Amino acid sequence: MIRIEGLSHYYPIRAGSAPIGVNGHRSNREMALCDINLGISQGERVVLLGSSGAGKSTLLRCTNLSIKPTRGKVFIGGREITSAPIKEVEQIRRQIGVIYQQFNLLEGASAMKNVLLGRLGYTGTMQSILGRFSEEDHAIAIDCLTRVGLEKYAQKRVSDLSGGQKQRVAVARALAQRPKTILADEPVASLDPKLMKEVMDLIHKICVDDQITLVASLHFLELAKTYATRLVGLRAGQIVFDDIPAELTDKDIIDIYGETEDWVLYGKRGF
Ligand SMILES: Nc1ncnc2c1ncn2[C@@H]1O[C@H](COP(=O)(O)OP(=O)(O)OP(=O)(O)O)[C@@H](O)[C@H]1O
Ligand SMILES: [Mg+2]
Repeated sequence: MIRIEGLSHYYPIRAGSAPIGVNGHRSNREMALCDINLGISQGERVVLLGSSGAGKSTLLRCTNLSIKPTRGKVFIGGREITSAPIKEVEQIRRQIGVIYQQFNLLEGASAMKNVLLGRLGYTGTMQSILGRFSEEDHAIAIDCLTRVGLEKYAQKRVSDLSGGQKQRVAVARALAQRPKTILADEPVASLDPKLMKEVMDLIHKICVDDQITLVASLHFLELAKTYATRLVGLRAGQIVFDDIPAELTDKDIIDIYGETEDWVLYGKRGF
């Protein structure tokens, strides 16, 4: 379903702020990912682990080409998107729902309008400019809001919703894309522990029911172990662990998070 081959990504560094390397020269680019190889099958639920700066967000962004990787190839459904024409990339992208930590919703618009935006990839250019959606799109949006338990809130402005409700709207918007894959970058990091579980339960149920492949980054280990079929640990842009949750040992946790005791903060004993 998703195949990543030899993926590396470097961000440019602003002049003057570059660190001095071992050879005494300043590098004008910072490595975020180094030679990542990963194959993910349909229906897998992969959780990316790693401390801050390990490269989780960069890997998620490269997977749907929201940033173009410096090197390497990304295949979605067998098609290499890193070299595909933009029209084709857009068609593939509409089957990839994205959920963000900060929700990324139009705060001033209704929940319904936000979910309809998930249909944009399926709407003609003119229609989408005018914000006109078909009856079918409306029916899909209502169905998605119902699945996340928010049908009563369809006309409510997003700014008037709670954090948990906002993230449900974002899940409904992703679902309206009829996705084969959902990429979720710390989808519950802005929520309190009770809501974290509620929203993760919802994402999990939707992915299981619809056989959607999930690739998510999560900071809490217990949460990751509960919802993942597979854990991928990143450290300094490289994969240092890739296995089922039951195989994750304390040594692996230290390999991922480093020698410090900081990893305990990530909730080894739950939250
Ligand atoms: N837009 C950017 N410009 C320059 N460097 C960046 C940019 N985004 C990320 N980086 C750098 O790339 C590396 C990987 O960052 P990334 O955001 O992928 O990490 P992460 O694992 O998602 O971290 P976090 O848990 O804090 O979200 C870090 O060293 C970071 O400073
Ligand atoms: Mg991140």
